[in-house]
Amino acid sequence: MKTYRSFLKMKNENVKIAMMTAYDYPSAKMSEEAEVDMILVGDSLGMVVLGYDSTIPVTIDDMIHHGKAVRRGAPNTFTTIDMPFMSFNISRENTLHNAKRIFQETGAQALKIEGGKEVVEVIQVITQAGIPIVGHIGLTPQSVHVLGGYRIQGKTHEDASRLIEEAKAVERAGAIALVLECVPEKLAKIISEQVSIPTIGIGAGKHCDGQVLVYHDLLQYGVERLAKFVKPYADMNQTTKSALEEYVNEVKQERFPKEEHTYPIDEEALVGLYG
Ligand code: KIV
Ligand code: NA
Repeated sequence: MKTYRSFLKMKNENVKIAMMTAYDYPSAKMSEEAEVDMILVGDSLGMVVLGYDSTIPVTIDDMIHHGKAVRRGAPNTFTTIDMPFMSFNISRENTLHNAKRIFQETGAQALKIEGGKEVVEVIQVITQAGIPIVGHIGLTPQSVHVLGGYRIQGKTHEDASRLIEEAKAVERAGAIALVLECVPEKLAKIISEQVSIPTIGIGAGKHCDGQVLVYHDLLQYGVERLAKFVKPYADMNQTTKSALEEYVNEVKQERFPKEEHTYPIDEEALVGLYG
């Protein structure tokens, strides 16, 4: 099992970190088999698995339920779990209670928290309690309504300099890594050079210390529109659609099941049973 030190070493040796989201047993199992360095049980769960139109409805119980399944599928992969909307930027006591629940009940290796300066204290408190925290700045989807939509962050000089300050603040607070979402490539490069913890980019270009993509985006599975920053590596929509249609047709046309899909019984066992 890798630790946060492994990721730090990768950054220092210029070995890129490949991170993936996973939400259940099969996605976790296949991610582990593909040797991803870190799994994220993202609260994107709400959108790609549960069908909500944002991450805001996702609950702590949702994260624990899916986090446990992921841990069963990928017991040997460093797994980070998102703290969902309004589970951490509340009272110190409730924040610690929620972090403890997610961390302890799932057996994850780290939790992730969205936000910059406003979550510095939260990151410190949780880290001091013994729970490693991954930060997340730039486009922070839990704040979509404050940001005014899912859009690129840090385009102006002022915003860019604020993001650099936030990255440093999150690092000082004790975060073990930092997700940069939807920031210009050149800004992500500056941030990656100015913090010593690994940066993991999504829509942040090639200079980050690692990359993360959402499982269902990467595979084009159940998602219709892909953001500009996603490269689809498969087309599971098409594969799944044709397979399901073929199945339905074969059932209707009585082409499935065939004898090879059935279990035999000796004729004598059926004597007297025919109607
Ligand atoms: O929830 C998620 O999938 C994430 C990644 C996009 C970083 O937070
Ligand atoms: Na997330």
